[in-house]
Amino acid sequence: MSGLADVIRAEIEAAGPISFARFMDLALYHPEFGYYERRSPVGRHGDYYTSVSAGGLFGELLAFAFAQWGAGLNDGPLQIVESGAHDGRLARDIVDWFRRRGGGRSQIEYWILEPSIARRAWQKETLGPCAASVRWASDWDSLPDCGVQGVIFANELLDAMPVRRWAWDAAAMNWREWGVGRIGDAFAWVRLDRPQSTGPDSSPTGMSDPNEFFQSDASLLAVLPDGFIVETCPAALTWWRNAATRLRRGWLLTFDYGLTFEELLSPSRSQGTLRAYHSHQVSNAVLDRPGEQDLTAHVNFSALRAAGEAAGLKTEHFESQGSFLVRVVGEIERQSGRFGDWTPGRRRQLKTLIHPEHLGHAFRVLAQSRQARL
Ligand SMILES: C[S@@+](CC[C@H](N)C(=O)[O-])C[C@H]1O[C@@H](n2cnc3c(N)ncnc32)[C@H](O)[C@@H]1O
Repeated sequence: MSGLADVIRAEIEAAGPISFARFMDLALYHPEFGYYERRSPVGRHGDYYTSVSAGGLFGELLAFAFAQWGAGLNDGPLQIVESGAHDGRLARDIVDWFRRRGGGRSQIEYWILEPSIARRAWQKETLGPCAASVRWASDWDSLPDCGVQGVIFANELLDAMPVRRWAWDAAAMNWREWGVGRIGDAFAWVRLDRPQSTGPDSSPTGMSDPNEFFQSDASLLAVLPDGFIVETCPAALTWWRNAATRLRRGWLLTFDYGLTFEELLSPSRSQGTLRAYHSHQVSNAVLDRPGEQDLTAHVNFSALRAAGEAAGLKTEHFESQGSFLVRVVGEIERQSGRFGDWTPGRRRQLKTLIHPEHLGHAFRVLAQSRQARL
């Protein structure tokens, strides 16, 4: 067994079964053995692809879109805050696009929200000369006090946040939480006697209990099959609320795998959306090999959308990555000469980003805005 498996085993030994959110948090983010403490899980030699691993075009298209949105804000530098920047490639592609466009001068204030010291070091290395245009914040409170005027965004951050896993008990008309225990050396699913705290994000406002998830339509519970599984992600909701609160004026957006509330309840999702990636193979064996495979669950876009709107944001776009980027390309074509040549390499990258059979359909974009000054 790996060092991380020993750590998790010891925790279960000491206090009994743990919530899946705790298991996922340790598997991905344990400071010594966590999966994301490794630098290269993304790309051909890693476990999965993201839009960033397709090449620099994704960042260039985002930079173009952000510049358009920034033009409507007028005063002050355009502030861009990225979270989940991993090794800094997307940040480099965006900052570099602005530097080239400004003749070597950056017209933006780029922030990376990054709690991990190790990841900050990778990001600085990847950014190279672009690092001079980037500032780092370890948490939301370290961003400028007056809030952000510009864009707060993430690519595949929220679907990497720890989730809790619940099964519907039709006889008791209640949710039961699935946790993680042990059978011998192996980890196994166990029903928890009662929901467990997973830290600060498990507050009622963080949707720690899926009854909150169903408040909008409790009548659905009467017809939900016994054993139907949903995941909730209090950390993702907390992230979105924090971002919405910090956004003084401008845009908040995320690119993620995800579904709406109705889609999460479709019969084809009765086993939930939790899965593992290892060497580009997807599996349901999420309790195997902790720290050596990626774990992910679909984002609940309805919950994020409602949280943003409750914080005063307007929903501008909720669509596939393909249609979002096609619109950006349409604007580029309209303003010919402001983007750069469509070389064969760039065309190939565009196809990967927008084609429904590649990344265009599976990834979705939720974009909300606050136009008036707070
Ligand atoms: C699936 S990877 C995506 C990486 C990159 N955005 C890309 O598209 O290639 C998720 C990243 O989010 C980071 N992450 C998770 N929780 C975070 C948090 N609360 N703040 C900042 N980064 C976080 C992980 O460490 C990991 O680097």
